[in-house]
Amino acid sequence: MPTQVVLGLQWGDEGKGKIVDVLAQKADYVVRFQGGQNAGHTLVVDGVKTILHLLPSGVLHGKTGVLGNGMVIDPVGLLEEIDGLGKELAERALQNLLISDRAHLLFPYHKQGDVGELSQKIGTTGRGIGQAYEDKVSRQGVLAYMLSMKEALIEQVKVCWEGSGVETASMEAYLKTLAQAADRLAPHLANIPAQLNEAYEADSRILIEGAQGSLLDVDHGTYPFVTSSSTTIGGVCTGTGLPASRIDRVLGVIKAYTTRVGHGHLPAELTGDLGESLRQKGQEFGATTGRARRVGWLDLIGIRYAMMLNGVDELVMMKLDVLDELPEIQVVTGYKHNGNRLEVFPTDPVVWTACEPIYESLPGWQSSTEKCPEFDQLPDNAKRYIDFVEDRLGVPIRMISTGPERTATIVREGR
Ligand code: IMP
Repeated sequence: MPTQVVLGLQWGDEGKGKIVDVLAQKADYVVRFQGGQNAGHTLVVDGVKTILHLLPSGVLHGKTGVLGNGMVIDPVGLLEEIDGLGKELAERALQNLLISDRAHLLFPYHKQGDVGELSQKIGTTGRGIGQAYEDKVSRQGVLAYMLSMKEALIEQVKVCWEGSGVETASMEAYLKTLAQAADRLAPHLANIPAQLNEAYEADSRILIEGAQGSLLDVDHGTYPFVTSSSTTIGGVCTGTGLPASRIDRVLGVIKAYTTRVGHGHLPAELTGDLGESLRQKGQEFGATTGRARRVGWLDLIGIRYAMMLNGVDELVMMKLDVLDELPEIQVVTGYKHNGNRLEVFPTDPVVWTACEPIYESLPGWQSSTEKCPEFDQLPDNAKRYIDFVEDRLGVPIRMISTGPERTATIVREGR
């Protein structure tokens, strides 16, 4: 299968990092197409936890890691992330890294601007993502190709920073660091659309990993409580230069329940003790900001909408084990709005925020799923839960994750 895309179908943090890490072992290229340091992919490899914000996780396997043109990249932050991996992994990561010369660069003035009232209202990650995309769309952005023109880059960043209206006290010191970063990153710039299309023609295996989730998409998500990039399938084409006809398989990732960081409506939110115990068991704290994630029951209406937007071929269910102790599990199978039942996710924000969940209840299994290597060995009620979700969503659940380690992954062959 030449090109596979892995996309989150909720509000991010579905656990895509682990699945990408598993699939990357059989890929030649691992590609990011949108977002920036707002993402946090947590990987546990041989018991060691690593959090990646910009790097595609495949670089740890010695695969070619690509940062696509749809991204907003903090060049100094990228090198800090790489150097933080330790000498051996850092060398490997840098050696295997390609950066689109058309990606946009993100600078401290973007981050400094991501603190105001609007950022607070949305609950952004504070990484300057919206500010960098604003510059991109208003045609004032600094493209990554400028890393190979150091003097001009420094001059342009200086002008942009001074014009941005934020504090400039740290600018001179930053520009020195930026100059060093440019020297190290410039050799990795590439014409990514040409390279990926050539790789496709040569039958290379391309794995494309989404960051954030479909319900945070700037066009299709729960606007304005969204991120500033296209997290759904269209973003894959615009953010890499691969045409739609070269996307062969779309894998949708869902968590066995729902989480959301930041503000915005969450119909099935669990605010009491149950929510707290799921948060603790699932370690639902932001990989980027450390913020407690809001927790709720699985919402099939939101997921069905995301599946429709992305044309999902197969599903992956993460963190099933977090539900292990529950006597009863609720699933949202409809929304109530003005006394009517809705089966379709509303696109009107006023309707959406007035929606209340309609639940169906399933019995829990109250035993551990963590050491079950195969579907048949799962407790009966866990199998029933998965079958129920699969049946309602109408697409096979190909993989089920029952723990953070790569090995705690059930693959259902032949589905
Ligand atoms: P921004 O992307 O930092 O501008 O934040 C916009 C919204 O997206 C906020 O609600 C964030 O919490 C959310 N968000 C951004 N990145 C992630 C992520 O990787 N996982 C989950 N939520 C995210």
